Amino acid sequence: MGILKRFGVSVDENLLKKFDSYLKRKNYKTRSEAIRDLIRKALVEEEWIREDRMVAGTITLVYDHHQKELSDKLTKLQHNYYKIIISTQHIHLDHNICLEIIVVKGKIKDIYDLQSKLKATKGVKHASLSKSTLSKQI
Ligand code: NI
Repeated sequence: MGILKRFGVSVDENLLKKFDSYLKRKNYKTRSEAIRDLIRKALVEEEWIREDRMVAGTITLVYDHHQKELSDKLTKLQHNYYKIIISTQHIHLDHNICLEIIVVKGKIKDIYDLQSKLKATKGVKHASLSKSTLSKQI
């Protein structure tokens, strides 16, 4: 982390009221911390636009393991992407439903490819991607 810098922000009164109520809902203690998080979020989102960029994130999958051959298909698919998968955690939510958290690190294009292939696999109910960063500046 670098040196903390101060800057002034001019904001419409109504927008500031809305922002302060957002801070309360999100449990922020100061406007500064909320603004820092919003800046980081914008920078991470921008980072994910460039497909050749190296990033990190997680893919969360929900599926019914009784679906024919689904577990095998998902394992095979993950083996095809072993270079970008750091870790996988499997949680049995109930008798039928499984949740998997796949931690990924690699090129954005490869991460999107893996996510879309997992999502398109028959029986997968949900496959969301949480985008994060490897940048030391954010
Ligand atoms: Ni399971």
